[in-house]
Amino acid sequence: MSYNNSKEVGKGFDRITAVYDTVVSIASFDRINKSQLAFLSHLSTQKTALILGGGTGFFLQKVLEQNEEINITYVDASPKMIMYAKKRIEKNMPNSLKRVTFICAGVEDFEWQFFDVIVCNYLLDLFDNAYVQVLAEKFKDNLNSEGLLYITDFQISKTNSLLKWGTQIGLKVLYSFFRWTTCLNTKQLPEIERILSEQRFYLLDSENYLGGILVCSLFKLKD
Ligand SMILES: C[S@@+](CC[C@H](N)C(=O)[O-])C[C@H]1O[C@@H](n2cnc3c(N)ncnc32)[C@H](O)[C@@H]1O
Repeated sequence: MSYNNSKEVGKGFDRITAVYDTVVSIASFDRINKSQLAFLSHLSTQKTALILGGGTGFFLQKVLEQNEEINITYVDASPKMIMYAKKRIEKNMPNSLKRVTFICAGVEDFEWQFFDVIVCNYLLDLFDNAYVQVLAEKFKDNLNSEGLLYITDFQISKTNSLLKWGTQIGLKVLYSFFRWTTCLNTKQLPEIERILSEQRFYLLDSENYLGGILVCSLFKLKD
């Protein structure tokens, strides 16, 4: 298991928080944000959600707007990301602030409880296969019955070799950038779907963006 020190990585993400939204929006033609919203309409009825590695709070605000009842636990290793997310809700939805519990911690240190939805948008790509497996077991053990696992991330094409090559180069650049700015050790994309299926998650639906480089997926546990 390649080990990331979540405190170091959190401090690293602190360094890029102020420019994160702008860089991500320009570099992905705003598809990083748009891709996360593919199945937002499926989050209208749940009572509790866990958002892991939520960043500056773009998705947090969207869920609060979508579902007026939901209570959200929001976890991020970066104190600045947490501060930005909190400020975003304070500014745009002050009455909803009481529905969010902000926790500045690594997923490695988080004390798990049961949730109706668990969200990981562009987080699992920061870990290797072995740690994604640890997380997949946590998801399985901490989702309520009928619970949803909501994941958006990069994927490498299995059929189009040009796209596969382009994505691999792009990810190399991205991982080098993260290694330089955030002390991240990860070098390649984990096999998210395979690992989840080994933990009895099945794919309910998925939607591709940027020609299939980005994918938003909704999973549920088999009975
Ligand atoms: C690539 S950003 C994605 C942010 C947001 N979900 C999005 O899609 O724009 C990854 C986020 O995960 C946080 N993070 C990185 N490692 C973490 C860890 N081990 N535990 C919790 N959060 C982590 C970072 O601080 C950052 O906010």
